[in-house]
Amino acid sequence: MITVKTVGDMKSLVRRWKNEGKTVGLVPTMGFLHEGHLSLVRDSKKRADVTVVSIFVNPIQFGPKEDFKKYPRDLEKDSAYLKEGGADCLFYPDAADIYPAGYRTYVAVHGLQDRLCGKSRPGHFQGVATVVLKLFNIVSPDFAFFGAKDAQQVLIIKRMAADLNLHVDVVTCPIVREPDGLALSSRNTYLSPDERIAALVLSRSLAAAEKLIAAGERDAAKVIAGMKSVIGSEPLARIDYVDAVDAVGLEPVAEIRGDVLIALAVFIGSTRLIDNIRVIV
Ligand code: PAJ
Repeated sequence: MITVKTVGDMKSLVRRWKNEGKTVGLVPTMGFLHEGHLSLVRDSKKRADVTVVSIFVNPIQFGPKEDFKKYPRDLEKDSAYLKEGGADCLFYPDAADIYPAGYRTYVAVHGLQDRLCGKSRPGHFQGVATVVLKLFNIVSPDFAFFGAKDAQQVLIIKRMAADLNLHVDVVTCPIVREPDGLALSSRNTYLSPDERIAALVLSRSLAAAEKLIAAGERDAAKVIAGMKSVIGSEPLARIDYVDAVDAVGLEPVAEIRGDVLIALAVFIGSTRLIDNIRVIV
């Protein structure tokens, strides 16, 4: 595996690959990698000739009171993990190389960026869209891989790619979960043993929603109420949002019909976790 640090070196390497006729897959990450990230690497290896994984804890997608400083980092472990997983290149640029002095340009995906997580994390998706567009321009990937765990994120990236005529195929990969149902996340490491147990309310509430819908419930408010009562039974959990929205425009739905995204964000202690399911009825 080649490790690349600067934007300039990354661009030259990609130019060489492209001259050799190779297709490039990109897996953007913020590191502290787990099996969820690795599943994206595996998908990329299936589709593209070479796979680049970027690790960059993107300062502009964190709010002033969020966990940018304490976000977990372990480059050595990540690097060994990626080597084993068969990534061809690790790109880990410095913030000063990505956002040099005088940096002024940001990408906004209006409407989509303000819903769900965007309500409680203003500016977050502008930060995400900006860094992802920059990574696309640096790495020129033919394919880019994103997890369905961050459903709103992948929708925003797809919208941006279509709106700005980008030459990249944005691929959504399924959510990878622990055996007990908790969606893998780098932030799970913040959880104490008690909180780790409490965190199961996210997947449990989604399972409750699935059960209600399978039994014929179509009233979104009732499904959401069912989920909130599951979460309410856990003293360590505090709801940020629980929403049923249409899976394309992220507009709230009154009825569970068509292609619906049921998404939630819940604080377990001070750790904010997200999860979702897509329901097609
Ligand atoms: P990060 O949280 O490191 O996630 C990197 C990618 O891994 C994202 O596409 C995310 O959806 C995916 N992922 C995380 N947990 C997953 C799981 N349990 N199952 C499947 N996929 C999972 O998302 C980001 O970083 C950043 O916002 C980024 C896109 C890199 C921009 O800075």
